Amino acid sequence: MRLYRTLFAPTLLAACLATSCADPNQNSTNEVPTAQAATDASPSIKAAYKDAFYVGAALNGRQASGNDAKAIKLLQEQFNTISPENLLKWEAVHPKQGVYNFEAVDKYVALGEQNDMFIVGHTLVWHNQTPKWVFEDAQGKPVSKEELLKRMEDHIKTVAGRYKGRIDSWDVVNEALNDDGTLRQSPWLKIIGEEFLVKAFEYAHQADPEMELYYNDYNLWKPAKRDGAVRLVRNLQEKGIKVAGIGMQGHYGLHAPSLEDIEASIKAFSDLGVKVAFTEVDIDVLPNPSNRQGADIDATFEFDEKYNLYTDGLPDSVQQQLTQRYTDLFNLFQKHSDKIDRVTFWGVTDNDSWLNNWPIQGRTSYPMLFDRQYQPKPAYNAVLEAAAKAK
Ligand code: XIL
Repeated sequence: MRLYRTLFAPTLLAACLATSCADPNQNSTNEVPTAQAATDASPSIKAAYKDAFYVGAALNGRQASGNDAKAIKLLQEQFNTISPENLLKWEAVHPKQGVYNFEAVDKYVALGEQNDMFIVGHTLVWHNQTPKWVFEDAQGKPVSKEELLKRMEDHIKTVAGRYKGRIDSWDVVNEALNDDGTLRQSPWLKIIGEEFLVKAFEYAHQADPEMELYYNDYNLWKPAKRDGAVRLVRNLQEKGIKVAGIGMQGHYGLHAPSLEDIEASIKAFSDLGVKVAFTEVDIDVLPNPSNRQGADIDATFEFDEKYNLYTDGLPDSVQQQLTQRYTDLFNLFQKHSDKIDRVTFWGVTDNDSWLNNWPIQGRTSYPMLFDRQYQPKPAYNAVLEAAAKAK
């Protein structure tokens, strides 16, 4: 766990550099590279923000299993926390009743431990990427409330329980709110009622009393949704549940949302006595038919070349806007570093980003700090400079 790693891992690493020994905290069957001492001295985002917050990236399956060596090198140099892009979603880890796939997740967790990273779990209870069987009986009819609660409890205790003391923070519930701040009519809400929120957090706490429990959502900068999240978390707190933080996904555009709206949410959430994390940061530079905001993964559109503007590279003018947007965001994050615990990018390089395939499949997107050749973009320098300026 975090404390163990913070206190003891550096000592172990130093001892192991001199001799050759196995970290007892590691899974020796997963041969993934460990952090190199030499990279610690190079400029890095994790070093630049070490007194402010964790900075991280979401990993896809290839990366988590150590099969994208260049991405792993960047990860080790630049970041100190990881999130699983898809590996821990219900459909991936628990595709059929009684069938769990832990192989990929075991590698993900081992990679984080071997590199002394803050390890995030994403996500236990969500309406998306959750198989239909979860909500249905053998006849395809909705299951009873009792049965769904039992399935939820089994899932949470099996998955979160397996990584007890190893995964540091869980997005317990993802996207339970509509943009107007009301509760989403998901199968969880329809079958169980509002109690599903309380139960999810209770089961997660029982699975690992030490881990940090988060509520995570998109568009939390919207005033109505912000108020909804405040109500949701306050209700949990009134029932005695310790919510560690609120995850603002951070799937933003070049010019919207406004910094003022984001800042108002940071403050409102912090006033609840919980931490704030930016859990899935990316900046979409591409247009789309709906001027979409947020990140509803079901809201997709047919491919049309006119929304795929930059197949030959990002024009300088847009590159500059992207750089400025990252500067502005990191200035804001830095200003509120007493409230913000973590900033995680939803991918390592432009090539990995889900925005190449959402909300329109098959486009060329440029949302991250590293390009398709794993090279830092101007936005990377901007993020480093924002840290330096604050000192
Ligand atoms: C996305 C992944 O990046 C995609 O690969 C997948 O096809 C769909 O889900 N909000 C979340 C994330 O909480 O889990 C979503 O991730 C993006 C929106």
